[in-house]
Amino acid sequence: MKKVTKAIIPAAGLGTRMLPASKAIPKEMLPIVDKPAIQYIVEEAVEAGIKDILIITNRGKGAMEDHFDHNFELEYNLRQKGKDDILKELEGVAKLANITFLRQKETGGLGDAVYKAKTFVGDEPFAVLYGDDVIIGEKPAIGEMLEAFEQSGGEGGVVGVKEVAAEQIVKYCTLDVTPLENGVMKVNDMIEKPKPEQIMSLYAILGRCILQPEIFDVLEKTPKGAGGELQLTDAMATLAREGKMYAIEYSGTRYDMGNKLGFLIANIEHGLN
Ligand code: UTP
Repeated sequence: MKKVTKAIIPAAGLGTRMLPASKAIPKEMLPIVDKPAIQYIVEEAVEAGIKDILIITNRGKGAMEDHFDHNFELEYNLRQKGKDDILKELEGVAKLANITFLRQKETGGLGDAVYKAKTFVGDEPFAVLYGDDVIIGEKPAIGEMLEAFEQSGGEGGVVGVKEVAAEQIVKYCTLDVTPLENGVMKVNDMIEKPKPEQIMSLYAILGRCILQPEIFDVLEKTPKGAGGELQLTDAMATLAREGKMYAIEYSGTRYDMGNKLGFLIANIEHGLN
């Protein structure tokens, strides 16, 4: 069985729902208390044992590259002033993982962003952690999914799901699932941004998946979907209908950092904790 050693974090979206905050600062750099959202996501991957990470970026998102790099002037200054705790923390961020960056160049949708990672991925299964979904919990969500993936023999793909409110599901994707054992579900079908009459369950994919490189061939044949963009869900739906997709409900709390309410809830809840 091939192990998952690589992760992709698509973070190239325009962040229109977070404007004007996200005009000059990537929304992924907006903080939850004192850490930018993207750092929580990288830490989740690292905690799950994944250290090779590709972040898909775009124009105007260079702050993410700076964040995971050294800042020698700042580090020198902190060392001179004996501020060792924060110095150690900053150096730790720069050493967190082997992070590479790739520009999407045109905002063609999540499917298009993932497709850009084809060469990075090669012929191994890989994890995708959506750049605006921060999950905070006792265990790394992608780690829980990796356990399910390995238990099932490392075949097919796994999506991380949660049940969402009935009025919310139309903004996400709806899944038709059959429960198996140990909390694992077989995914029979999925529909991105369903119309009310298309809702199959209140389970939606929220921010995490493990995929096989086969997804790239499927993406090549997938037409543009909702919003005129290449949707990753549409490609995963093809694999689900072929019986190759599974789902598990991860235990952590997911915060949608892509909208203003999600950003506020994350800061208040995590701040109080
Ligand atoms: P979203 O649709 O939530 O992000 O995509 P967005 O496009 O930035 O949001 P709005 O609607 O304009 O506010 C989910 C994830 O996929 C990434 C986003 O950065 C986000 O992490 N994404 C989306 C890309 O990397 N490229 C794209 O072309 C679209």
